[in-house]
Amino acid sequence: MGHQDRLWPQQNCKGRRCLDCLGFSSPGAIGSNGIRLTTMESALTARDRVGVQDFVLLENFTSEAAFIENLRKRFKENLIYTYIGSVLVSVNPYKDLEIYSKQHMERYRGVSFYEVSPHLYAIADNSYRALRTERKDQCILISGESGAGKTEATKKILQYYAVTCPVSDQVETVKDRLLQSNPVLEAFGNAKTLRNDNSSRFGKYMDVQFDYKGAPVGGHILNYLLEKSRVVHQNHGERNFHIFYQLLEGGEEELLRRLGLEKNPQQYHYLIKGQCAKVSSINDKNDWKVVRKALSVINFSDNDVEDLLSIVASVLHLGNVQFAADEQGNAQVTTENQIKYLARLLGAEASVLREALINKKIIAKGEELVSPLNLEQAAYARDALAKAVYGRTFSWLVNKINRSLAYKEAEYPSWRSSTTVLGLLDIYGFEVFQHNSFEQFCINYCNEKLQQLFIELTLKSEQEEYESEGIAWESIHYFNNKIICDLVEEKFKGIISILDEECLRPGDATDMTFLEKLEDTVKNHPHFLTHKLADQKTRKSMGREEFRLLHYAGEVTYSVTGFLDKNNDLLFRNLKEAMCNSENPIINQCFDRTELTDKKRPETVATQFKNSLSKLMEILMSKEPSYIRCIKPNDAKQSGRFDEVLIRHQVKYLGLMENLRVRRAGFAYRRKYEVFLQRYKSLCPETWPTWDGRPHDGVAVLVKHLGYKPEEYKMGRTKIFIRFPKTLFATEDALEIRKQSLATKMQAAWRGFYKRKKFRQMKHSAITIQSWWRGTLGRRKAAKKRRAVETIRRFIKGFIYRNHPRCSENEYFLDYIRYSFLMNLKRNLPKNVLDKSWPIPPPSLVEASQLLRALCMQNMVWSYCKRISPEWKQQLEQKVVASEIFKDKKDNYPQSVPRLFINTRLGNEEINTKVLQGLGNEAIKYAVPVVKYDRKGYKARARQLLLTPNAVVIVEEAKMKQRIDYANLMGISVSSLSDSLFVLHVRCEDNKQKGDVVLQSDHVIETLTKIAMSADRVNNVNINQGSIKFTTGQGKEGIIDFTSGSELLIAKAKNGHLAVVAPRLNSR
Ligand SMILES: Nc1ncnc2c1ncn2[C@@H]1O[C@H](COP(=O)(O)OP(=O)(O)O)[C@@H](O)[C@H]1O
Ligand SMILES: [Mg+2]
Repeated sequence: MGHQDRLWPQQNCKGRRCLDCLGFSSPGAIGSNGIRLTTMESALTARDRVGVQDFVLLENFTSEAAFIENLRKRFKENLIYTYIGSVLVSVNPYKDLEIYSKQHMERYRGVSFYEVSPHLYAIADNSYRALRTERKDQCILISGESGAGKTEATKKILQYYAVTCPVSDQVETVKDRLLQSNPVLEAFGNAKTLRNDNSSRFGKYMDVQFDYKGAPVGGHILNYLLEKSRVVHQNHGERNFHIFYQLLEGGEEELLRRLGLEKNPQQYHYLIKGQCAKVSSINDKNDWKVVRKALSVINFSDNDVEDLLSIVASVLHLGNVQFAADEQGNAQVTTENQIKYLARLLGAEASVLREALINKKIIAKGEELVSPLNLEQAAYARDALAKAVYGRTFSWLVNKINRSLAYKEAEYPSWRSSTTVLGLLDIYGFEVFQHNSFEQFCINYCNEKLQQLFIELTLKSEQEEYESEGIAWESIHYFNNKIICDLVEEKFKGIISILDEECLRPGDATDMTFLEKLEDTVKNHPHFLTHKLADQKTRKSMGREEFRLLHYAGEVTYSVTGFLDKNNDLLFRNLKEAMCNSENPIINQCFDRTELTDKKRPETVATQFKNSLSKLMEILMSKEPSYIRCIKPNDAKQSGRFDEVLIRHQVKYLGLMENLRVRRAGFAYRRKYEVFLQRYKSLCPETWPTWDGRPHDGVAVLVKHLGYKPEEYKMGRTKIFIRFPKTLFATEDALEIRKQSLATKMQAAWRGFYKRKKFRQMKHSAITIQSWWRGTLGRRKAAKKRRAVETIRRFIKGFIYRNHPRCSENEYFLDYIRYSFLMNLKRNLPKNVLDKSWPIPPPSLVEASQLLRALCMQNMVWSYCKRISPEWKQQLEQKVVASEIFKDKKDNYPQSVPRLFINTRLGNEEINTKVLQGLGNEAIKYAVPVVKYDRKGYKARARQLLLTPNAVVIVEEAKMKQRIDYANLMGISVSSLSDSLFVLHVRCEDNKQKGDVVLQSDHVIETLTKIAMSADRVNNVNINQGSIKFTTGQGKEGIIDFTSGSELLIAKAKNGHLAVVAPRLNSR
């Protein structure tokens, strides 16, 4: 199954480190944070690539090569953790792997051991959970060579608890102190060695106390075997304890001045034995700051710190104390300055100190004997003092830290004070060097003891499990190393007893006499050899001063040189005395007066260690153990390098093969029935897809179907036990194949299901949208109706109240009426001046309507006027004048109204040229043919009437018959009837004038209007009823009588008057 068509929830793939990419492609549980978890079984199919994650699943479990190959495969894939059952094997990666984040911590929290890939956190969490649920004390034993990662593992476990454990009232401080005690202990107890830049030079057991809620509330530390010799000597490439360099690098000027120190480590003999005071990978200045801060967190007052640093400084000064021999060969101090500083820093008397350094005081038969020391002895005494001071101060420091970590029981009511304890042991594993001495002997002895514990506890728990599962106990063949422990620690016959005896014996005991004694006492022991006891062949590989122990993990050859001295750890009495009198409070506590008075010899180092170990075993025995075995992949502190020789050596001395053998003696694999059935049920038709009966029976059916042979498995009460990994692998492979076909089926089913689900979803959505839309439409319609009803109601109300003053009942109506009137008006405005239509306004708008109407008219007139041409204007002016003169006064006026006035009725061509010449410049404004009636006989004669700017001219052909200047035109008379006669009255005084003229024009209104206007006689047109009088040239008078008749008749009447009958017009 590839990544694409995966059936199972897919997580983010992070490339090579992704477990899926490593072949863990089968389904796994999903962690609370969504990270894919793999079960151990899931990883089985990836075994070719990344090996098995539990060594018990190695087919060839007795083969060291297969073991190492599995480690190598995993190491190459950055999988540094592997189980042997519940033992965790860890290979130092020498690089930061991103597997310690908070997310990782969460992933392991509360998860069953085998559900997740192997990790330190799984061990930590498992122990913590057992502690909480079973309320049984736990311990985690971490062992391995120097540089294998023990201390890192310890720190990581502490961090895990600090992050994941619940918080209790005062827990924050305890958590801090637990974490902060580390840098302080490391400063004083760690050093750069060839193997590890931060090598712990002491063994450490740390208890963490948890309260009933599971919160850490206290702690306690036990320390073992501080490597004191480092204070005075370091091998090439190694350093003294970090604190010395940190103080010199980081200490403030003022502090260093007080301590009498210079900033340069090269000044101090004790710091330069290894010739590498400066190391690039270590930042002493920064570390100093960390330590100073940590000291305050763990309750150190300024005074405490000052006292402590005074001691550190005094060790440096002590290292610089030099001697010279006097004549007798006795040592004398040559460096007074150093003595002065020492005296000040230790609060001792300079002279006492000086004397104590060069003399030896012994008590023989109750008398004090003082004897001088030679140079060699003095140097020895000085170094012994430095070691003692530093070593005891270290113990004091641990005690002081313990006080600050102590669980304050009194602060809790008793029902809450029941605590459980989780111990962390960080101690060197087997040490096998080219040259092994007393220290290696102690350490390896410690490891034998731990192996004893492991065997006892593992076998015990195995046995318990078998019993509780009701499976017959099958004896396991394993090597019980009790015989070696006894060889070392047995009373009287053990190596330590013999060593002590040699140390205490009066006389000339030496390392060699000790070896002889050993040979005598334990010569027949199968695990003990010396040069003398060995056979010919083996003897070649041993020196005469050596003895060899066949440890369970392998053989180690020890040189006895220095054993007695180191075991005695002697400090001359007078130096002790000087220290007892010290005023430095720490030194004072470290050197107890009772030591001086006590007659009994102090316990030797080996015995002390034996006792503390036996105490430790007791502590550990009372707890449920977990194991972490650390392996260093190479000596160069390099990442990615897998040095097989080195690793084989460690696998051997860590006893891992032996671990595996014990673990695998019975069954390789065991699981609860539920878990087993759940995983493999698909392999059997009867159990797939569900098994309704008891899981126990389901598994029975399942394994029968799978064809397990009876010797391959056992059915316990709650678990199935499978003896060989290959049985499990076969099952796992079958599952893998089965999964392919299941996946196909499930995919098909899933697709069908998915599509149906999707369809149903869409259908549901469509219905939802439809109903929603219908609802919306309905609501809109209802709202519209409501609004309509409201409007109608307002209308009716408004109509009823329409004549009331404006009030809430009618305001809407009135506004509406007003509005609609105005809108209607806007649409129906009169189109032109003659259009008199106008909508009828509502009562409230009558006045406004009138104003608007006037405005509108004004506007139309104005725009009409703007459009009038000059000719038309003239026409209209003339028409207006005509109207003023004739309207309602003369009968034939109405007929003239619709006829346009013509500019002139005779063109210039119709007028005789002589006349035109006669007029000269005078232009003819108007010309019309007229009939002239003689003044006497009223004979009608055709004439032309011309109007110039100055006069009316009567023309007959070429003759200008009469010219009447406008000034002489007195008036014009005309009848009110429909005739077209008129009289021009001329001024009489003028002799040249022939008198008034009687004329007739077919266009009488036009002609008279033009004459009146040209001559400015508009007001002098008389319209007469009945008759008109006129004068003739000689002052005589004529009369024209007008009557109406049926048709026009103009003739001289009998009375001499001119009688005019004008036809009656209908309009009148
Ligand atoms: N899990 C780890 N991941 C990364 N580096 C590690 C790890 N464990 C150890 N180291 C490296 O190895 C060095 C030595 O580890 P340390 O725990 O001090 O060894 P030991 O206590 O066994 O002597 C550390 O300083 C660190 O650089
Ligand atoms: Mg360490």
